[in-house]
Amino acid sequence: MEQSAKIYEDLDRILVTKEEIAEKVRELGQKITKDYAGKEPVLVCILKGAVLFFSDLMREIDLPVTADFMAISSYGSATKTSGVVRVLKDLDKDIVGKDVIIVEDIVDTGVTLNYLKSMLAHRGAASIRIAALLDKTARRTVPDLKVDYVCFDIPDAFVVGYGLDYDQTYRNLPDIGVLSPKIYGDK
Ligand code: XMP
Ligand code: MG
Repeated sequence: MEQSAKIYEDLDRILVTKEEIAEKVRELGQKITKDYAGKEPVLVCILKGAVLFFSDLMREIDLPVTADFMAISSYGSATKTSGVVRVLKDLDKDIVGKDVIIVEDIVDTGVTLNYLKSMLAHRGAASIRIAALLDKTARRTVPDLKVDYVCFDIPDAFVVGYGLDYDQTYRNLPDIGVLSPKIYGDK
């Protein structure tokens, strides 16, 4: 897609290109393949933001993984998390004794993943790790949350693309960019 395409007009700048994403995702897949050698991890995709990352990452993992999906919603505005998490779609299979990898688009305050991780731990998983495409470490309010695998540390800006949205738009941008504040500034 040309960068002059219509949806790029709402970006201030491109933060991570599709080539950089592909390279990091490949490296992460290789790392997970090594770390989980001899195991059959369950990859849990957190809908909807992680779908593109999830589908690319699982193809870079050379192990017999299984895939499951979860949809959650944090109450709050489009750009801020409130801390209260609601499960909209639960996993199809139970995870007792399984090695679970939660695949998430972005860690911001860490509230959402912290909640999710303890929820899944209570279900008796053998292990739980977190793989996040992006990490806004500067905004973390849950310092104890361990994000085991991260592709990119990013600055504190609202980003869209490669699955990440603003009001369900921009998920199909192949790159990741900073959304111009003029788009959401008045909301
Ligand atoms: P917390 O604060 O709980 O929030 O770590 C994580 C969730 O907040 C959303 N989020 C974003 N979504 N661009 C987005 O499209 C962003 O820059 C951004 N920052 C946070 C996202 O849903 C994530 O799962
Ligand atoms: Mg999300």
